[in-house]
Amino acid sequence: MERRSGKELRELFLKFFEEKGCKRYHSFSLVPDDPTLLFTIAGMVPFKPYFLGLKTPEVTRATTAQKCVRTNDIENVGRTARHHTFFEMLGNFSFGDYFKPEIIPWAWEFLTERVGLDPNRLYATVYLDDDEAYDIWHEKVGLPKERIFRLGADDNFWAAGPVGPCGPCSEIIYDQGEKFSCGKPTCTVGCDCDRYLEIWNLVFMQYNRDEAGNLTPLPHKNIDTGMGLERLASVVQSVPNDFETDLFRPIMDKACELVNVKYGEDPKKDMAVKVISDHIRASAFMIADGILPTNDGGGYVLRRLIRRCVRYGRLLGIERPFLTELLPVVRESIGDEYSELIEQASAIEQVLSTEEERFSRTLSQGSDLMDSEIDKLTAAGRNILPGDVAFVLYDTFGFPLELTEEMCEERGITIDKEGFEAAMEEQRERARASSKQTSSVISKNVYTELADKIAPSPFCGYTKTKCEAQVKAIIVDGALAESAAAGTEADLVLSETPFYAEKGGQVGDTGTITAGGMTFEVADTIYPVADLIVHRGRVTAGTVKAGDSVSAEINVERRAEIQRHHTATHLLHEALARVLGKHVRQAGSIVTPTFLRFDFNHFAPVTLDELREVERLVYAEVLKNKPVVTTIMAIEEAKKTGARALFDEKYGDEVRVLDIEDFSTELCGGTHVKNTGEIGLVKIIREEGIGSGIRRITAVAGSSSLPLFQSFGLAVTSMVTMLGGDVETLMSKIESMVDEKKVLERKNRELQVKAAMSDIENSVKPRANAGGVDLIVEKFDDITPDLLRQIGDRIRQKYPNALMLLAGVGEEKRVALTAMASPEIVKLGAHAGTLLKAVAAEMGGKGGGSPTLAQGGAQSSKDLGKAFDAAPKLFEELMTKGK
Ligand code: SER
Repeated sequence: MERRSGKELRELFLKFFEEKGCKRYHSFSLVPDDPTLLFTIAGMVPFKPYFLGLKTPEVTRATTAQKCVRTNDIENVGRTARHHTFFEMLGNFSFGDYFKPEIIPWAWEFLTERVGLDPNRLYATVYLDDDEAYDIWHEKVGLPKERIFRLGADDNFWAAGPVGPCGPCSEIIYDQGEKFSCGKPTCTVGCDCDRYLEIWNLVFMQYNRDEAGNLTPLPHKNIDTGMGLERLASVVQSVPNDFETDLFRPIMDKACELVNVKYGEDPKKDMAVKVISDHIRASAFMIADGILPTNDGGGYVLRRLIRRCVRYGRLLGIERPFLTELLPVVRESIGDEYSELIEQASAIEQVLSTEEERFSRTLSQGSDLMDSEIDKLTAAGRNILPGDVAFVLYDTFGFPLELTEEMCEERGITIDKEGFEAAMEEQRERARASSKQTSSVISKNVYTELADKIAPSPFCGYTKTKCEAQVKAIIVDGALAESAAAGTEADLVLSETPFYAEKGGQVGDTGTITAGGMTFEVADTIYPVADLIVHRGRVTAGTVKAGDSVSAEINVERRAEIQRHHTATHLLHEALARVLGKHVRQAGSIVTPTFLRFDFNHFAPVTLDELREVERLVYAEVLKNKPVVTTIMAIEEAKKTGARALFDEKYGDEVRVLDIEDFSTELCGGTHVKNTGEIGLVKIIREEGIGSGIRRITAVAGSSSLPLFQSFGLAVTSMVTMLGGDVETLMSKIESMVDEKKVLERKNRELQVKAAMSDIENSVKPRANAGGVDLIVEKFDDITPDLLRQIGDRIRQKYPNALMLLAGVGEEKRVALTAMASPEIVKLGAHAGTLLKAVAAEMGGKGGGSPTLAQGGAQSSKDLGKAFDAAPKLFEELMTKGK
């Protein structure tokens, strides 16, 4: 057998199936267009609608090398020869075209003739009653009966999930030889050990399984096959595990170099290196496909992978950030097939280093806390880590629960998961309580009833600014009314309207509705329920009656400004993607007559240079005065144009596509300028982060730009007058003032500490004494948590036997708590963590830590006095228990 690289095998496979009439597709994204899955877990995922007959494919035969991520067995990665999170699946697919009689002999031909595997080492399995597949293997391929095994549903029935397309399958097994065997007398095909390796799964996709578990035949019989490239490479390259193939080895070698490990000497270290190599590759691919580390969904998985890498690095003794140093080898090993790794190189690097840095900051503290908790448990002969400790690790130190679980497992401890969930739920409750939603004043019911009764209001405002219409309904104080007289606040529904109701970020129109002597001033236009356009405002003259013929006219000037901002938003979106990378996707937007706001995913603050480049690109499009063209088309057709669509938006069958030639194509229902020149200058006025991985840009366009520049000019002139010099020297003057301010602030803080320290000598007194330990409880104003520790050290000089609980009240009356105890008094029963937790709870706060050091805090100092009063009693209880 010829020794081939992973790259050669991938190409050999795709070419082979191209010869069999399959169209070669490039790998689809790791993020599937499928709400039932977090990741693309198999080559068939992007083709699911074709298997189900929901969509008609452009071809009936396809082949791919698909990027996949599976995370059900993360803990096994590195422990076994075969587990990975990210892997490539070589697949070929038939949508109602070829079936068993073709695919079985083809698979055999590929493995034995093209790859050159020894036919005597190959076996096949089929589903229990699948005589057809059995006969093809035996009669057509000529495989002896003793090398064909009939296995049950666990091995030979495949489904992507509990519901969806599925079917019996046939697997091809490669016998790696005696030395891979587990040695049990029962070791044969189907055994879990490494000897009989499944290399290719041929699925005969025939059924759809519903939620009740019923199987219904699909409209066509399909084929879905999948072979792990890494696995095939390990066989062809005769290496004992996937990590030693050329697909992984360069990454492993680099990881070994970084952490100073010699591969093959210590299985424990080898495992850690394998984990790092696997996870770094997976993380790079996930980030390249737009996933960012977060606390839920796919982002949480990414966070776990990165944090596991960091921890395993620490276990191997590397203290400095190292993850990004592995990226060049990841790119070299696989980047020529997946150019996204190269295109997104800087995004990947930044996300990884930010996340690594973030976690490194808390990893040691968290690990110390965990160690001390585990020591305590072990001493007490217990082996379950309390849920609230796991929660503090999660919430304060950023340890994914699964990581805590794994770390505990290494020491034979399990976690009280229910307790963890309860602590989590408690926190959610607090968050809910603190964000009391203002509910709509008027109940929605009247609108829901109205929408059921009358036809949807047609919107004619894409082309008209004014139209004649009938008043279909009047709503006053949440109830239908026959009429509304001058001075009344009311909602009007019309038979047709040019008023755009707020949607897709674009604010509603204002204007007037008139008839004879009646005038209704529209202050806003909204959709209280889908399809019902409501004009909200006030009758300012005459009386409006249901059925009246009226003339509806929008505020044209205001609308024109809105349109400028809306088209500017599209230009910005595209410009951001061009400057920052393809991962940029809209996460929200607001379009008003005076400004626009655009939220998008990006891992780092946008630099000034990047912002300038974005503005330049947008302005270049404005100056070209390009036509802005809208076309209504079928959603499928729109997708083909590559139009940007919102990730989680549900679109109808027909969509409106907005196109600015050679620049931006986006699905959009809003109203826009006719030519980009109408927009005028677009100026970004603010860039900020509004959550993990989400940035917000605020910008102005149209008439709002001029006053902005005028006020900028005025401000600069006044500053020059105030500070002296000229415009050129202004920045350096301000910079030195800011520096000076920092120095003064630092000096001021130092003085504060000195003052607090000098007070300590006189004012600090123990509040209680129990079991030979003093209790000191003290509050300090405007002191940061790090200074509290310094103060604590000082107090200890005077009271060496004190268990100290110190509070610093800072900005907005927030309280930082630190508790400290010397190892000597810990022996007497003192425990900083327990005391701090109990006292914090008295003031609605939280925290915890080890017996010698604990930290925590509370949102408000309101109950600080009460908590301090309770401290002596809590302390005495602690000391009694500790004995
Ligand atoms: N979908 C099947 C699998 O993942 C074959 O591609 O095993």
